Amino acid sequence: MSREQVNLLASSNNKINGCIRVPGDKSISHRAIIISSIAEGKTQINQYLDSADINATIDVCRRIDAEIIKSNESLIVTGNNLDRIQKEDIELNFGNSGTSMRLMMGVLSAQIFSSILSGDDSLSQRPMNRVSKPLINMNANIKTSNGKPPIFISPVDEIKNVDHKIHIASAQIKSAIMLAGLYGRESFTITTPKSRDHTEIMLNEFGCNITLESNSINVIPSKLTSPNTIDIPGDISSAAFFIVGSIISEDSQVKIENVGLNPLRTGFIDILKMMGASIEISDLKTVNGEVVGNIDVESSSLEGITIPKELIASSIDELPLIILAASQADGKTSLRNAEELRFKESDRISSMAKMMERFNIPIDEFNDGIDIYGGVIEGNTINSFGDHRIAMTALLASLVSNGDIIVENTVNIDTSFPEFIEIANNIGMDIKTYD
Ligand code: S3P
Repeated sequence: MSREQVNLLASSNNKINGCIRVPGDKSISHRAIIISSIAEGKTQINQYLDSADINATIDVCRRIDAEIIKSNESLIVTGNNLDRIQKEDIELNFGNSGTSMRLMMGVLSAQIFSSILSGDDSLSQRPMNRVSKPLINMNANIKTSNGKPPIFISPVDEIKNVDHKIHIASAQIKSAIMLAGLYGRESFTITTPKSRDHTEIMLNEFGCNITLESNSINVIPSKLTSPNTIDIPGDISSAAFFIVGSIISEDSQVKIENVGLNPLRTGFIDILKMMGASIEISDLKTVNGEVVGNIDVESSSLEGITIPKELIASSIDELPLIILAASQADGKTSLRNAEELRFKESDRISSMAKMMERFNIPIDEFNDGIDIYGGVIEGNTINSFGDHRIAMTALLASLVSNGDIIVENTVNIDTSFPEFIEIANNIGMDIKTYD
C-alpha cells in the first residue's frame, strides 16, 4: 500500500502484547546484495528486507550486470566477479536511500563507464562530499553538486589505494572506501571512530582478507567468493519501535525473536537500561558473522539520564525513539554530541524538537542535541518531514498520549519497514489511514 500524501491516525492509550519477528536488517541487506553482486558465484540471501531502499540497491546492482532474482522470501544473486564492465553511461535514481547511494559511490567510482546518481528531495539535501573526498584521494573521478547529489562519476584507469583517517563515525563513509578499495591493488588502512561494522563482517564472509583493530581496519584487496547462503537477522532498528513502545506503555510485554544484536547497533538498549528499562536478551548465536538473539521487554518506569557520548554512534538511528522514551521519564534527559542526527533523512534534532513541542513536552534544543523533560504527551498532528523514523516514532507516541495522534506524509515508512502498521496493529495498536 502506498501512503503518499496519506495521513495516518493512531488512537491513544493502547498497550502492546505479543511475540513478533521484524523484517530483515536494512544495513545488512544492502551489504549482502552489493557484495554478492561483485563477488564470484551465486549467493542465496534469505530474509532480506523487501523495502523501497533495498529495491534501490537491487536496481543499481542489476545495472552493473549482477543477476538478481527474487524467489519467495529470498534473493538469488549471481555476481560479476569484480569485472569492470564496458557499457553506456547510466543514470541512477536512489530515491530516499543514503546507504545505497554512498556505498554504490564506492563501487561505481571504480568502473569504466560514467554514472549520474540522484535521489529524492531529502537525499538531494544530504552531504556526499564526506564520501567523494576520500574516494577522490583514491584517484576516483567524482563531481558533486556543492557537496550534494546529483553526483557525477567518470571512469578511471585504476583505483589507487591509500590510507585514510576519517574523523566522523560513519559506516557509510568507511564502507564506500572499502568497496572502492577492492578494485585497487595495494593494501590500505582506514583509521576511524567505531561505527556499525556490517561491511567488514560481510566482506570477511566472502573471504576478503580484512583485519580489525580498535580504531582501524586493514584491507588486502582480493577476489570475493560467495559463501552460498547469507541469512539476514531481523532489523534491531525496526525492533526498537516495539521495544520502546512496550517500555513506555502500561501492561505491555513484547518478545522479539531472531533480531540482529551486533554490539555496534545496540547502544539504545544500554541507554534504556541506564534509564531503568527491563530488557532481557536470550538465545544468542552467531549467523554469518553477526550476533543474533531474542529480546524480551516489558513496561518499565524510566529516570532521566545524561546519555554517555560513547553510546551515540551505536544508537544513532534510535535516538528519536530515545527522545520519545525520555518524554516519559522522571526528570531531565540530556542528549549531546549527536550533531550527526542533523544529516539524516531529515534534521532529526529539529524534527524531534518540533514533535515534542507539538506534544507539549518541554525541551531545549542545542546544536548537537536536546534536553527533554518528562511530561504528558498531548495528541496533535505531527509532520513527519518525509522521514520514516520520525513518522513511526510519532505514531508510537499514541501508546502514551492524551488524545489521538495524526501523522502527515507517511509514505517513507516503506523505505525501511513496510510491515510496521500491520505488526503494530497485530500487537494492540490502532493505526489507520485518515483523510
Ligand atoms: C547506515 C549507517 C548509519 C545509519 C544509517 C545506515 C549503514 O549512518 O545512520 O541509517 O547502513 O551504513 P552513518 O554512515 O552516518 O554511520
